Formats: sequence, C-alpha cells, structure tokens
Amino acid sequence: MKKIADQVYYVGVNDLNKRLFEGLWPIPEGVTYNSYLVVDEKVCLMDTVEIDFYPQFLANIREVIGDRPIDYVVIHHMEPDHSSSLSLLRKFYPDVKIIGNKKTFDMMKGFYGITDGAIEIKNGDSLSLGRHTLNFYLTPMLHWPETMVSVDINVNVAFTGDAFGCFGSLNGGILDDHIDTEKYWLEMIRYYSNIVGRYGTPVQNALKKISGVQLDYLCTTHGPVWHKHLPKVVDMYDRMSKYDAEPGLVIAYGTMYGNTGHMAEVIAEAASQAGIENISLINLSKTHYSYVLRDMFRYKGLILGAPTYNNSIYPKMEHLLSAIANRDMKNRYMGWFGSFSWASKAVSILKDWNENKFHFEPVGEPVEMKQSMNEDVRAKCVALGQSMAKKLLNEE
Ligand code: FEO
Repeated sequence: MKKIADQVYYVGVNDLNKRLFEGLWPIPEGVTYNSYLVVDEKVCLMDTVEIDFYPQFLANIREVIGDRPIDYVVIHHMEPDHSSSLSLLRKFYPDVKIIGNKKTFDMMKGFYGITDGAIEIKNGDSLSLGRHTLNFYLTPMLHWPETMVSVDINVNVAFTGDAFGCFGSLNGGILDDHIDTEKYWLEMIRYYSNIVGRYGTPVQNALKKISGVQLDYLCTTHGPVWHKHLPKVVDMYDRMSKYDAEPGLVIAYGTMYGNTGHMAEVIAEAASQAGIENISLINLSKTHYSYVLRDMFRYKGLILGAPTYNNSIYPKMEHLLSAIANRDMKNRYMGWFGSFSWASKAVSILKDWNENKFHFEPVGEPVEMKQSMNEDVRAKCVALGQSMAKKLLNEE
C-alpha cells in the first residue's frame, strides 16, 4: 500500500510495455498512469488509468479499500490514458459518481457514451469527503480544454492532471523524498516540450490560479509525486511556459552519407571554441525529434541542417519543422545550413519555415554545400558557429 499523506494513497500503474506514448513519443524508460484514493467518510478516486492496465489498477484499489465502495471519481483530464477505464470502473462500482466540469462531460459522452452519474463542478466549487475537503480549479488547455486541478485542503495535496508530469516509470517508490529523481529532470522537459509545449499561456494562467494555495504535494498523472522538489518543479514549469532558456545551442541535422553531418560537426566545434558549453548535437537520422524539442526548451540557440531530398528537404527534418511550428515557441535564435548533390532546395525551405512559421531571430549566414566539404564551406560553417556563439554569449 503506497501512502502519500494522511488518508491519501497511490493506486496508479507503470506502463513498461509501450514503445511510443500517444503513438508518437519514445518512452524508453516507460511511463506511469497515476491515480490516487482519498479514503475518508467518502472514498474518492482521482482519475483512472489506461484500460490495458485495469486489472492491476483494480487490485491496487482493493489493496487500499478492500470491499468498500468508491463514492466519487474526479476526472481531471479526459485523455484516454487517464479516462479509458471509466466504463469498466462503473461496472465494478455502479454507484460511483463522476465529478468533472461541463467540458469533461461533453467528452465523456462522446468517448464512452456516459451521460449519467455525473456531478458538474465549476471553478471555485468545493466537495467535502468528511475530514477532507476538495477545492476545484478549472485550468483549461493544460493541454486539453477540460483540464482541471483539485486541492485537498486538509493535507495540502494538489491533484494536477498532466501538469508537473514526466516520462519514466516509478520503480517502486512514489514520493520524490524516497527516490533518486535524477533520471526524471530531462524526461520532465521532454514530456513538457512534447505534450504541453504549445500551451505556455494556459500553463501560466494555471500557475497563477493556484499560486496563493498552500501546497505540500503535487500529485500528477505521470511520474513521481513531488514533495521535496516541489519548488523546483513549479519553477521548471514556470520557466518552460515562459519559453525561458539557457544560452546553449541545439544543432539538429539529417544526413544520409555523412556530408551534412560533417557540416554540423564543424559548426559545433566552432561554437564550442567560441565559448558555448552546452551544445546538443542531434542526428535526426538516428535520434527521434522528441529530443530536439526537449533541448529547444533548454537552450536558446537553434541551428538546423539537412540535405536536399527529391527536390525537397530530408523527410526527418520535415517532421521536426512541423513539430517546431506546432509548439509556437518564442525568443529563440536560429541559423541553418544544408547540402545538395545537383539541385539545391533544403536551405531555402529552412529559410521559408523560419520566415513564415517560427519567426525566430535569424543568426549568421546560412551555409550551403554542394556534395562535400571544402575549405570555403568549412570557413562558412565556422563563421555560422561563431556568430551563434557570439549572439548567445551576449545574452549572459
Ligand atoms: Fe496524460 Fe494528456 O494525458
């Protein structure tokens, strides 16, 4: 039995089976679907788990409450990784009342055909469970329109949905006080950048909404329960949602035979020699663009490079470009480079994406290479790396 606070228990599950979260994002260290129980005069469940894990979920619930019924289930977020067990839960607990907001119930009808047993709450409403009282805060677009947060004001525990979540399984321990949290920090940034990153303003609004509330525990739907590191986690979300970043550099490139990769290496070396300590050099031909998005939320500088491919741009770069545009990021510097064998296209496509979609501040002269490296191209790559370094170092 995994206790979080007085009468508050963890009943979530690990997913160490899936390769891609949302069918998109690699999760080499797994992910969790967290759910919690408040066991008072009334028993209240916080969210459910992905339906594949229902047997484990039910066993976790029964370990805590035995044969007692569940009175309420609060749905903080309707995405199916947290809501898809609802219909099954109602079969096992037919009297359970579902707590959500108007948008929750619109989605619940659409996804699961559930229209009864609902208690609709509004921002600022409360629910007494006995000794524990839940206060509800509507926090739309974190990262869906129905998202909300509840706070158990008896024990200062916030149930936050996806907010403050991260990739990575829980390997026995739940509370951050009892586990080595090192592996979660980069995975928190990756989770944020991949899943929530487009919604900086709604995250800021949510942080403001709960800023005056005394909180000792953040119970997210993915990853550890934050207690010891609560201030750090809130600060990370605050910074990421403002698009704050360090003066480091992400160089992401595609390469087929190593020639564009050679350009990336020269640019990286020049930036390093010019004083940039944090450089993330990512070959998209091997590494998923999920990691580029992560590092774009860490570092202010971005240099993209790709070969021309079928009179367009290397396809893996195309995925990345679309993902960056979808994040609507602000306050970044961008340089670019590319190569071609007989007809040039990639460099002009990179320029177009920045001018029309990203609107990042261009830095340095773009470099274009025909076939392979020569002294002229090398000098231009060095100049690009140096220009970006100068821009970033002037920020410090
Ligand atoms: Fe973890 Fe947005 O679902």
